[in-house]
Amino acid sequence: MKGPSQAHRRIPPSACDVGILNFLVPAVGGAKLNIERVEWMLETIPIGLASEVPLGASKIFESDGRRVAVFNLDGQFHAIDNTCPHRGASLAVGHLSGTIVSCPLHGWEFDVITGDCTSHAGNPVERFEVHVEAGELRIEIPPAVEPPPVKDDGVHRYLIRYGALGWVAWFGSIETVECRHKDRVVVNTSRGLELGEVLSSPLDGRRPLSVNAEKPTGEVLRRASDDDLAQVKLMSAEPPGLLDACEQLLAAHDPTVDVVDFEFLFDGETVVLYFLGEQLPELETIGEQLSKQFHFEVRFFPLVEPPPQAGGCGSGGCGSGGCGSGHE
Ligand code: FES
Repeated sequence: MKGPSQAHRRIPPSACDVGILNFLVPAVGGAKLNIERVEWMLETIPIGLASEVPLGASKIFESDGRRVAVFNLDGQFHAIDNTCPHRGASLAVGHLSGTIVSCPLHGWEFDVITGDCTSHAGNPVERFEVHVEAGELRIEIPPAVEPPPVKDDGVHRYLIRYGALGWVAWFGSIETVECRHKDRVVVNTSRGLELGEVLSSPLDGRRPLSVNAEKPTGEVLRRASDDDLAQVKLMSAEPPGLLDACEQLLAAHDPTVDVVDFEFLFDGETVVLYFLGEQLPELETIGEQLSKQFHFEVRFFPLVEPPPQAGGCGSGGCGSGGCGSGHE
């Protein structure tokens, strides 16, 4: 595959482009400007071979730091950003029906031709023009836009390790939370309350008190008290019989799914089962059956997915219900 530096090529504008330019350029001295020919610079990037995406199939390609899902609909190739805007699942492994792909995690639906989200309007994914040249797939990359200068949002940031899988992410708080390296803290993610370990805090003096370099994954609520830590200790054991019951239900539905770990969330009411395999709709039904039987909320979480994002003031916000920091 060629590198990005070899990816530039000139594409002449269509008649339509020239028409638009004639309309946009103001007349000078009453005379209409006549644009005979305009050289239009677009960048296309080679991402792989067309033969890698058979009819009716899809594939993820990685190029120039982007993950792109390419779909082959009746011999026509369509490309969209591979990352679901809901919680980041991979759209290329979703179910394709006609021009609609359903996200494998929670079922949001996207039109692979337009990138529009047809189930949750206003949440499109980026789409890319695809060209096939000598059997090679190339996508058009829009010109880079300079990001606006970053304003300090006043959120204090902490690097926290959390979850049974040891995810590491930036969390935020509006008020300073008195915690330092190695302290345990209670944090809020979209899964609920969780216990985390501080790797870096503004009080450690390694970073300025408030920086915008990373959007917080969730909110730091407080340093864990002795009672918090005692509660977590009580919850470290497997609820008796849960994994056996889960295995039996899975064997009846889908023997290819393998539960490899479990975790009690800090709320004491939610058990997360981490699994390898495909996120099938049946897992939701099995989760409901286990929840009824064991009186916990039982959720499945695929090991390949990125860490959960914050709820509260929105994905990527500081995680609070109304932090006033201006997060969208
Ligand atoms: S619908 Fe795609 S991650 Fe939830």
